[in-house]
Amino acid sequence: MPVFKPLHSLFGATVSAVDLTAPVSDQDFSEIYAAFEKYSLLVFHDQALSDDAQLAFSRRFGPLELTKIGAPGAGTEMVILSNIGPDGEIAAAEDRMHGSHRANSLWHTDSSFKKIPAKASLLSGRTVPPSGGETEFVSMRAAYAALPEATKQKIDGRVALHSFAHSRDKIYKGLATDVEQDVLPAVPQPMVTVNPTTGEKSFYVASHASHIEGVPVEEGAALIAELVEFATQPDRVYRHEWRDNDLVIWDNRCLLHRAQPFENLTHRRHMIRTTVSIVDAAA
Ligand code: OGA
Ligand code: MN
Repeated sequence: MPVFKPLHSLFGATVSAVDLTAPVSDQDFSEIYAAFEKYSLLVFHDQALSDDAQLAFSRRFGPLELTKIGAPGAGTEMVILSNIGPDGEIAAAEDRMHGSHRANSLWHTDSSFKKIPAKASLLSGRTVPPSGGETEFVSMRAAYAALPEATKQKIDGRVALHSFAHSRDKIYKGLATDVEQDVLPAVPQPMVTVNPTTGEKSFYVASHASHIEGVPVEEGAALIAELVEFATQPDRVYRHEWRDNDLVIWDNRCLLHRAQPFENLTHRRHMIRTTVSIVDAAA
């Protein structure tokens, strides 16, 4: 039976007494799924997952996204976040792999730039650096609950535009290629969402969100920035310090996350992400 231990006063739990390298029973999975809905972030240690084991466990949460064009792992159900090139060596300083890590260091939620965004991400730390390279998380659901009533009213029923190029442009022009820009035009996402299982509300913004429909661009961008700043106050942050073979699962509907820098030309960092799409019966 999995055992859950809260990690932070607002969200998150570690899960022990479960082996994800072997098939997980329906009973154990239903407890894990309920905990995912409740805690938004689950941390499992010492899970030496093969790709197949990670895929099999991930599919229990719902259908998996195909990795978008341009990303390592494109066309498969795995995203490779790594600084190690195909030759097994740390990639050269100018390699796009390092730029992608920098872009991940902006507060974001995975795939909000896709028409059908992501419900959950499962990130497996296969090789992690001895220091740095942590991942930080905050809860937009907890932040929503703490918002002043006037702000809640301001965002209620509003729609923000999210695009991949918008966040990449903040790092450097061209990090999002022409092809990526063509296949990923800006998409509208509601600014306030309701969890269909728990009924809890969350706001939903990120580094991919550029402006708000029906609001002057600068004003909308300022409101998005204000919400991110509100959600990411230091006492609301859980910082995950990776150990090899950690698996971290988060709810993209209500958490923001960002990567921290590390000595990326010296230390190896190799992570595999599977991403669950929001379309399934449990939504
Ligand atoms: C991700 C991501 C952050 C990190 O996997 O979606 O943003 O720390 N990762 O690698
Ligand atoms: Mn991410």
